[in-house]
Amino acid sequence: MMKKLLLTTLAIIATITMVAQTADPFLTSIVNGVPWTDDHGKPVNAHGACIVEENGKYYLFGEWKSDTTNAFPGFACYSSTDLVNWKFERVALPLQKDGLLGPNRVGERPKVMRCPKTGEYIMLAHTDDMRYKDPQVGLAVAKEITGPYTFIGPLLYKGKPIKRWDMGTFQDHDGTGYLLMHHGDIYRLSKDYRKAVKKVADGIKEGGESPAMLHKDGTYYLFGSNLTSWERNDNFYHTAPGIEGPWTKQGIFCPEGTLTYNSQSTFILPLHRGDSIVYMYMGDRWSYPHQASSATYVWMPMQVNGGKVNIPEYWPVWNPVTMQPVRDLGGTVIPVNFKTATKGAKLELPFEGTRIAVIGHTFNNGGYGRISIIDSQGGTVHTNLIDFYSKVDDHGLRYVSPLLPRGRYTLVVECAGEHPHWSNKRGDYFGSREDWVTVEEVRVY
Ligand code: DGJ
Repeated sequence: MMKKLLLTTLAIIATITMVAQTADPFLTSIVNGVPWTDDHGKPVNAHGACIVEENGKYYLFGEWKSDTTNAFPGFACYSSTDLVNWKFERVALPLQKDGLLGPNRVGERPKVMRCPKTGEYIMLAHTDDMRYKDPQVGLAVAKEITGPYTFIGPLLYKGKPIKRWDMGTFQDHDGTGYLLMHHGDIYRLSKDYRKAVKKVADGIKEGGESPAMLHKDGTYYLFGSNLTSWERNDNFYHTAPGIEGPWTKQGIFCPEGTLTYNSQSTFILPLHRGDSIVYMYMGDRWSYPHQASSATYVWMPMQVNGGKVNIPEYWPVWNPVTMQPVRDLGGTVIPVNFKTATKGAKLELPFEGTRIAVIGHTFNNGGYGRISIIDSQGGTVHTNLIDFYSKVDDHGLRYVSPLLPRGRYTLVVECAGEHPHWSNKRGDYFGSREDWVTVEEVRVY
């Protein structure tokens, strides 16, 4: 009798443990549009990014943004074995004493490739002045993938800098390196990747900003965005039978009006899954001026077939091993009705568990909200500024806490009384005009 009871009890405990483990989808998922937390408890801060896969690891390089200014503070490198958990490696290229990436300069879109001929790691990036009137492509090199990278100067073509802004890179199957420039210029790099040697495509018609490329089954696909500063728009793509062209505009690859699921292209990562390659779109959801804390990532597998590309639906949470969306977030659902634009107004919600997720609404008059997790001693165990603005309405995940030791905590959501807004070179106003923070539900794990 006792034995049977014990076995039943063990079975129940095992079931509860299993439920508790399988109920947290965030352990193994890429979560779009929420800040990610690195191994130091800080937001993963690598925007306008690229990923290099090497020896079973993914190395993420991107803009190590600040929350206060657009001036270049460095380019960051993180590593991961699963694309979900990110370790901060270092500021791979720090602020320079002077020159193209010295004080009060812009540094954007770092792209790293390993040169097959020399074994050297080459970093190319957009450098500029603070008004975006001095665009050039900067070149930095390193012996180790994580750096530190040594800044060399401008990448040269026919002995001169390339005076264009948004850029990307592409490494073809045969190891040839290319530089992709906004407005549709493509340059082939020298064998050592340290200079541009041939302009293989010149002003592809309607070529946009934030260029990225993939090559599948003899077709080249070039992705880019319209020119809307930090705002999102419906990104589009071109195809060609060879990198030199002829390039044909195909149109958008996400449903019209979703503004590329509120993101801007930056890189396409080929992921080897079984015998096939799945191409992962990587995009930025910018948040000016608090980019370091509140700009987020949108990464999704693309359908690429016979010259067409499609991301038919938005997957806020998905598993990069199975390549499947997580349709049920699980957890214990707590409905909430918190909608305020009053600075300092707070939602306080005690909970017990190992994680909490916040679901809310974003729209064109959304602002910033600060979300914090307070432990039973009153200490802040995690805090992040969250952007509740989006030009097109969206309902979904806004925050996912890091995994916490099981315990009692209080979730605090506070209206920050400010909103993302900025102007472009012409002085046009972009972003929100009000400070609304809207939370509709939380889920406890
Ligand atoms: C759009 C570009 O794609 C971004 O990298 C950045 O330069 C912004 N413009 C600045 O407004």
